[in-house]
Amino acid sequence: MPDAAPALQNVVEHFTARAGRYDGSSHWCNDPALMERVLALAAPTAGDRVLDVACGTGLVSKAFRPLAGEIVGVDITPAMASQAAPFLDSFVLAQAEDLPFEDGEFDITVCRQGIQFMDAAPAACEMVRVTRKGGRVLLVNLCAYGEEDREEYFEILRLRNPVRRNFFLPDDLSGLLRAAGCREVQAHNHVSEEDVDLWSDNGAIPEANREHIRALYRAASPGFQKHHEVRLAGDGRIVDRMLFTIAVGIP
Ligand SMILES: C[S@@+](CC[C@H](N)C(=O)[O-])C[C@H]1O[C@@H](n2cnc3c(N)ncnc32)[C@H](O)[C@@H]1O
Repeated sequence: MPDAAPALQNVVEHFTARAGRYDGSSHWCNDPALMERVLALAAPTAGDRVLDVACGTGLVSKAFRPLAGEIVGVDITPAMASQAAPFLDSFVLAQAEDLPFEDGEFDITVCRQGIQFMDAAPAACEMVRVTRKGGRVLLVNLCAYGEEDREEYFEILRLRNPVRRNFFLPDDLSGLLRAAGCREVQAHNHVSEEDVDLWSDNGAIPEANREHIRALYRAASPGFQKHHEVRLAGDGRIVDRMLFTIAVGIP
């Protein structure tokens, strides 16, 4: 469900503020089980050209690096992307909604935690367009589990990242790939445990947002609790089982 689109400059400012501590700002960033799942589904081989859309600091590219032939990164925030340089063969400063590549140039296109900031339908179309027929396009994103948690979770996500533009349920990601022309689409779920205090301490939101997030977790509805299995520790720490969907489409 899209919110009013934040200006591109606001997105760049947000990630510029976060760039220094981004890699340590969430458990999911370096969750090995999530990355193993992504790699198993992408199945890169030594001859593959891989496009990492919204590459950020290069955590996804770093994982693909030993397995793929060539990796190209795209992002709009130089302060994030400058850290990706060791893992990329080349980088292009560009918006995902208008990728400066020919049709079918890549074997694999992957976008983790990026499409939530984009004009989602045109961005998905571009990712599918630049991927060869029979290749793979992967969208990896945090999702609400379903109707029971969506409103509360989307409010939490909005507070944690005010420039987030799209909030997804798992089927939404598959729908984007189908609408963009993929002939086969599958979705896989992965749960990543997140310490909410660590996750909300991203360096780009005021303490009031973090306190509001904690209050929402403490007051979470039974439906939210059921899916997220929220643990409230005695020391005030909160642990959430956050859901990632990995949608894989074949153009
Ligand atoms: C949460 S980070 C994800 C980084 C990386 N993919 C990862 O999984 O660690 C989101 C990234 O999306 C980039 N981004 C946001 N909107 C974008 C757009 N329209 N086109 C390209 N990149 C965009 C931001 O600059 C930021 O680096």
